[in-house]
Amino acid sequence: MTTTGPPVTREFATSGARRLTLVRGLGARLWDETGRSYVDLGATHGVGNLGSNPPEVVRAIEAQAKELLYLGSGYANPVRTQFVERLLSLLPGSFGSVFLSNSGTEAAEAAIKIARSATGRPKIVAAMRGFHGRTLGALSATWRREFREPFEPLVPEFVHVPFNDAAALEAAVDETTALVLLEPVQGEGGVHVASAEYLRAARSMTERSGALLAFDEVQTGLGRTGRMFAFERWGVVPDLLLLAKSLAGGLPVGATVVARSVVPRFRGSHHSTFGGNPLVCAAGIAALDSLVRDRLPERAERLGTQGLERLGRLPGEKVREVRGLGLMIGVEFREKVAPFLAELESRGFLAISAGSTVLRLLPPLVITDEDWGAGLEAIAEVVGGG
Ligand SMILES: Cc1ncc(COP(=O)(O)O)c(C=O)c1O
Repeated sequence: MTTTGPPVTREFATSGARRLTLVRGLGARLWDETGRSYVDLGATHGVGNLGSNPPEVVRAIEAQAKELLYLGSGYANPVRTQFVERLLSLLPGSFGSVFLSNSGTEAAEAAIKIARSATGRPKIVAAMRGFHGRTLGALSATWRREFREPFEPLVPEFVHVPFNDAAALEAAVDETTALVLLEPVQGEGGVHVASAEYLRAARSMTERSGALLAFDEVQTGLGRTGRMFAFERWGVVPDLLLLAKSLAGGLPVGATVVARSVVPRFRGSHHSTFGGNPLVCAAGIAALDSLVRDRLPERAERLGTQGLERLGRLPGEKVREVRGLGLMIGVEFREKVAPFLAELESRGFLAISAGSTVLRLLPPLVITDEDWGAGLEAIAEVVGGG
């Protein structure tokens, strides 16, 4: 969402009017209809880890479009099989299976259903400030009141506990708990990084109580935080892993990766018509190959360290805190962030917010050193010094 000019579409704009028309993209650059170029510092909330139109993904889509676009999950397909195997090859051996869908919220819905069915328990424990999607199950795990209230009553048996507070989590997890669902770095909630002790405590208390542990890596996954998956940093492996956004290089995809130990415990049915269609799977294989070959997690780590260092020098009267991991950075202001975003846009840099006071940076991991450096300097100028 941008903040200047009149709305340009009658599309049902449920989360703010759209005022900037963008027509083309390549890497970390986007162009509007007049040909003006912008540096993309938000990558559609983390969809574009590989940037816009990654050439290998585009080639894979072109080739697959000539073979087979869609296929029900009742049939085997070698492209789908290869995508699932490629994804599992990047993960610890404790994971055994992948459920494919079309979005992050569906990845969360599947995790909730799998956990309830596998444990036979009702309760889902999530974190305050957490975000897991907008469909009713995922929304029930999401924290922000404005997102929830107009749609209540939500799904019962969801509780929220303070993030990074192991004692509060321990108090909430009991013999009725099916799932503890956490983001290793809270994105929409303002870029808050989990502590190692918290995630380790979450792992040991879920093991003890018989609940499952899920990490929502829809935003943190696929290189964003300087590791292929953020959980690698802490060495804490969950039972369920939620992925989406950049997993297919820009096409809609969701994945719920399930531990071997959980797979045989699932009862009931779950399904998604478009989930795992060959077109998306072909794009997904190309996307994963590019992430690995171009060592994009390492690039995210290097550029992220540089970003945290530069932004850490912003003036304290304006900025309360700068935090993040890799190329997932939040700058928390002491005032509303919207005017800063508008000023950045007028200078040709598209950043996003997380809540009303946090500027969130999720640039494509392929952003050039020059564009990243220019983005950081533009922020410093807009904020006024540092
Ligand atoms: C951590 C997390 N989980 C889930 C979602 C929902 O994903 P989607 O918008 O694809 O449904 C998001 C979206 O921002 C997210 O950041």
